[in-house]
Order: sequence, then structure tokens, then C-alpha cells
Amino acid sequence: MSEDTKAAKDAEKMEKIVSLCKRRGFIFQSAEIYGGLNGCWDYGPLGVELKRNLKDYWWRKNVRERDDVVGLDGSILTHQEALKSSGHVGGFSDPMVDCRTCKSRFRADQVCESKCPEKPSKNPEENGCDLTEPRDFNLMFETKMGASSDDGSIAYLRPETAQSIFVQFKNVCDQTGERVKMPFGIAQIGKAFRNEINPRNFTFRSREFEQMEIEYFCRAEDGLELTDYWLEERLKFYESIGIPREKLHVLDVPDGERGHYSSKTYDIEYEFPFGIQELEGVAYRTDYDLKAHSEGVGKPQEYVDQAAGEKFIPHVVEPSAGCDRTILALICEAYEEEVITNDKGKQETRVVMRFDPKMAPIKCAIFPLLKNKPELVAKSKEVLDLLRPFMNVTYDETGAVGRRYRRGDEAGTPFSVTVDFDTIGENGPENEGTVTLRERDSMEQIRIPITDLVAHLLPLIQ
Ligand code: GAP
Repeated sequence: MSEDTKAAKDAEKMEKIVSLCKRRGFIFQSAEIYGGLNGCWDYGPLGVELKRNLKDYWWRKNVRERDDVVGLDGSILTHQEALKSSGHVGGFSDPMVDCRTCKSRFRADQVCESKCPEKPSKNPEENGCDLTEPRDFNLMFETKMGASSDDGSIAYLRPETAQSIFVQFKNVCDQTGERVKMPFGIAQIGKAFRNEINPRNFTFRSREFEQMEIEYFCRAEDGLELTDYWLEERLKFYESIGIPREKLHVLDVPDGERGHYSSKTYDIEYEFPFGIQELEGVAYRTDYDLKAHSEGVGKPQEYVDQAAGEKFIPHVVEPSAGCDRTILALICEAYEEEVITNDKGKQETRVVMRFDPKMAPIKCAIFPLLKNKPELVAKSKEVLDLLRPFMNVTYDETGAVGRRYRRGDEAGTPFSVTVDFDTIGENGPENEGTVTLRERDSMEQIRIPITDLVAHLLPLIQ
């Protein structure tokens, strides 16, 4: 396939994904009925379940199943002094350029290859934007707290979840007492805000997004080794949620391109349809942040090792994942169009979202074969109630069963159960109390007693 054909196919795939996300209620543009709020997105009924599954699984793997990581949920509004100490107030900016003709605004490192719409010309060479010199544009959203309007009331929406972890470092150490021993981590999932100059690629670069971060505190001599350790842990995590290793790339970020705080960073990148782009950064932040806050407050933000009788400011390794970007990767990875032969022997294309069952928004759909047969409906509702405490389930009685399967495939529902005449004993006692269970990917169906459903499904969805 030529480069151009591939690019056109990838762009078409992305368009289909965006349209499916809207149609099926994964992701909507924020305030769409008002023309949209640029760089902001709302997750619909399926999207919110997918996101919750991702966050819960991340939390389970990185906090609950580890002895060395505890959690935190910090405030979004952030003290301006904290962000002065961290370097964000003075330095968290992107270089911005404007086109003097069409007034478009670009990040200087991503300048438009597109033509200037205000300069119609037959010669594309003469058609580019007329750009200003780059100037720094601070990415933080600033707000005022309380009724007074002096500078003292300025606060910021946090640009990363990390800072509240550093600011609460001493409290967490003091409170958790025996539990945290170096090395240990503090994890947080939450919103972050950046006034991106050019939000783009669907949710990939947004102005409001969620991060899933761990600040893993350690001794200086262990920093580099732990950076490699966390890189591997994180790659394994992505594989475990259904993103294959061969679609992940590791970029050892060169000198001069890392964050101001980092002496080693790996970017974990994914092959999105719009290019290979960053999902997560695993950064060795050294003791930059805790030192900066120590200076900011005039008190050392140090770790006290009671047993060894020593005190020191720890170093930190930070795996920082974008929740929305991971969701987008999961959606892109799951999307597939498959040509199949339907029950009438005709070829048709089914769109199937092949989510890992752990991530799938709905785990199992329950169908009565016919909606106008009360015994089938009642039995289906019984099955629904049986499964509901254990997993997210849905009930669907509209249209032919084949159509319902297709709807489930588009939602990425890995299992569906059909309650038919055998289930209610109308074809004799042999199959009474059993249902058909269909698996999304293989489309294979088995007959299984209703009483075995929970035990059968639970290991497959966790
Ligand atoms: N605490 C370190 C930090 O914030 P970062 O590389 O700026 O580092 C970490 O951000 C992750 O947050 C990125 O890898 C990405 O997944 C996500 N992220 C950053 N900016 C984003 C944006 N504008 N929209 C969506 N996700 C973003």
C-alpha cells in the first residue's frame, strides 16, 4: 500500500471511529448544541463505563495489589505558590505563533502545513500563513478565589496531578507511619487542565483531561534502575488491557526535549490512526520537585528513616499516563470491520469493538428471543437480576436477534445470552433452565445452565 493510500485509509478509519463514538454514546463533543467547546469532551453512557473500567483496573493494579503504593485525591484548584515553586507559573508554556493574515494560532513546533484560507492563490507555494515570531504562551488556566480581586486570590486549575502529591508528601509519610518505607509510591487519578493552543486529533490533545500518575519515591542511587522497572511495568499494563506490544513504541527522549525537571524520560507511544503518538511518559524527576517545594516553603520536604536514623529528600520516578489517551487507544485498537455471512446466507460487514472483556463497557447482554412472549421476558429479567450484582449488563428486546447481536458488537459487549423456548421448557425438559451464550469475537454459541452463568463469566471479565 502506498504511503498516500495508507494515510487516506487511516484518516477514514479515524472518521468512522469518531462517528461511532458519537452514534453509540462513547464520546460527545462538549456543549455540542451550542456549537461545541473546543478541546473539551463528554463521555456518554458507554464511554463512562469504559473509562471507569480503565481507572478501576489501573487503581487495582497500581495501588490495591501493591504493598508499596498508596493513593491520594488532591484538589483541582491549586495554590499559586505551589505552582510558582514547581516552575509552572514562570515556565509551563508552549511557543505560539499567529498568522497575520488569517489570524489562526499555532504551536510553533507544529506549524501548519495547511494553506492560509485568506490567501487564495493558484500557486500553493505562495499560499502559506504569514507567521509572527514565536512567543511563550502559558498553558495554565488561571482563576480567582473568593470575593477579593487582588493577586493573592489567584489560583490555578492544576496542569498535572503530580504537584498535589509532592505538596502532600510529608503528610502522607507522617500519616501512614509504618506502611510506607522507601521506595514507595503515591498514586492519583484525576483531572488536569491545559490551555492547549491547538487541541486536535479527537480527544488526543484536549484542554481538560484525566491523568493516572504515580510518584514513586526512592533513593538517588536507585532512580535510573527504577525508571527502567516502571517502563516495563507500564508496558505490561497496556498489554493486559488489550493493546499489543507490537503497537507500542518506546522513545528514549533525547536531551533538550525532556521536561524541565527530568534527567531521563521514556515516552510510551501507540500507533494511533493519525500517527505514532505519546500515551504515557515515564520520567525520572530526580529530587527536583521536593527540593523546589522545600525552598518554596522554607522547610525540607524530607523522608525520615527512623530505623537508620537518617533524613533525606528522596528522588522520584513518575509513570504518568493519560486516561483519555488510553481510552482513545483502546477504542482505536478495538475497532474492526469484518465481513461475515449472516443467517440468511448473505455477506455483510459487521463493525465490532473487540475490547478486552475487562475493559468492555457492558459485559453481557440479555435477549428474550421474542418480546411478546411474557414467559421469555420474565425469564430474561430473572437472568438480568442474577448477573447484575457481578457485572454491568443490559437488556435488549428490540428487533431480530441478529440485529441485537450487531448492536452488542458495536458496543463491544463480549457476551450475550438468549432466552428461548428451550429455556422455559416448551421443547421438553431436556434444555429447561439453559440459555445460549454467544461470544462476540468467535460468534460461537454454547448452551449453558443459567445457574452456571456467573461462575462461567466472572473469570472471563476480570
Ligand atoms: N506529571 C507529568 C506530566 O504531566 P506530561 O507528559 O505533560 O507529563 C503526561 O503528561 C500524560 O498526560 C501524557 O503522556 C498524556 O497521556 C497526558 N496528556 C498530557 N497533555 C494532554 C492533553 N492536552 N490532552 C490529553 N492528554 C494529555
